[in-house]
Amino acid sequence: MTSARKAYRASIIHSIGDPAEVGVEASYEYFEDGLLVVTDGRVESVGDAGVLLANLPAGTEVTEYPDALLMPGFVDTHIHYPQTGMIASYGEQLLDWLNNYTFPAENAFSDPAHAAEVAEVFLTELLRNGTTTALVFGTVHKGSVDAFFSAAEQRNLRMIAGKVLMDRNAPEYLTDTAESGYRDSRELIERWHGKGRLHYAVTPRFAPTSTDEQLAAAGQLLQEYEGLYMHTHLSENRDEVEWVKSLFPQCSGYLDVYDHYNLLSERSVFAHGIHLCDDECKRLSETGSAIAFCPTSNLFLGSGLFNLPKMEQHKVRVGLGTDVGAGTSFSILQTLNEAYKVMQLQGAKLSPFKSLYLATLGGARALRLEDRIGSFASGNEADFVVLDYNATPLMQYRMAQAKTLDERLFVLMMLGDDRTVRETFAAGESVHRRD
Ligand code: GUN
Ligand code: ZN
Repeated sequence: MTSARKAYRASIIHSIGDPAEVGVEASYEYFEDGLLVVTDGRVESVGDAGVLLANLPAGTEVTEYPDALLMPGFVDTHIHYPQTGMIASYGEQLLDWLNNYTFPAENAFSDPAHAAEVAEVFLTELLRNGTTTALVFGTVHKGSVDAFFSAAEQRNLRMIAGKVLMDRNAPEYLTDTAESGYRDSRELIERWHGKGRLHYAVTPRFAPTSTDEQLAAAGQLLQEYEGLYMHTHLSENRDEVEWVKSLFPQCSGYLDVYDHYNLLSERSVFAHGIHLCDDECKRLSETGSAIAFCPTSNLFLGSGLFNLPKMEQHKVRVGLGTDVGAGTSFSILQTLNEAYKVMQLQGAKLSPFKSLYLATLGGARALRLEDRIGSFASGNEADFVVLDYNATPLMQYRMAQAKTLDERLFVLMMLGDDRTVRETFAAGESVHRRD
């Protein structure tokens, strides 16, 4: 097989460590005039264009992006594809929002044709926003996950998804049973887990909508198959937390419910985690579990302010989640914008380099995929985005005043959105180009 080598010339940045652990200077690599060399869909090398171009075999195709910043594709560690069509639904907090808007919208996914249509819209939207990997909720219908994985496979994307497990406290039209949920999950795992770039996540919606039997079955699935993810919600809303306490009085708190059923692991991702005590953070840390920080959703539903510094203190892995449709944007740049404000309201800071980390390598680490995506380490899959410094008249005007790299990064994160994404690549192939 001849190797298909291509090169991309632009300003290039990638995160190589968490600024909270290694300090800002050691957390990234930046090449003002950089070159990314991609062979057979993988990163061959990244560095200064002047050096790498001299060693590039004659005839290698080089694509140039002036006034652009090339970086690894964004990682969204929590999102619901079936909620694409009900984003921006007015006026409620979590539990009423679920009953009034979410469950009726998810009912439509009993129709595979509807699921296939929404999966296409959803993936197109992710790529328009520069997101190349996501951890994705389906609905209770196994066909919703078949539709999602089929669409992701066709685009050769690294994606993680699962069928919702929900056998109580939800409308009858949207519930499974402990037994059928287990069986359907197994079927999907056999069909999709490890196929191409796809992984399966065992997905109990949240503790209130699963019986003890169903949570036990979820734990059993995790024992039965290698490398499965566990994806659910945790401590998002105060009424929800109280409800969990009343449903599981034998447990010491919300996280303890999941712990009791062996659902905490290095591949467990919990969305939100706003109202957690120190002991819960400690337990997340010692089990290697991760939290998806979803600021646009937390503000939209009035859920509360996520305490990122506390997670850093406890060394809990954290990624960013858009949480569409409670989240109000598919854009990880817009998500960073809101994350910055959430920090400001708590008297804390979110630096541009920590933001870069969360959007890329931090997300990859939360998903235990840092050996494949999230940075331009040699051999990694070539999932990357090209961001346009001149995407809008205002951004162009503001960038002209920006003197330093951190200033430019910060402007991208405050003013950037889908318009900023000039091109998105997955496994070395262009999968979105803004024309
Ligand atoms: N908790 C349980 N289900 C959901 C959901 O669909 N969205 C959010 N934000 N929280 C949840
Ligand atoms: Zn969610």
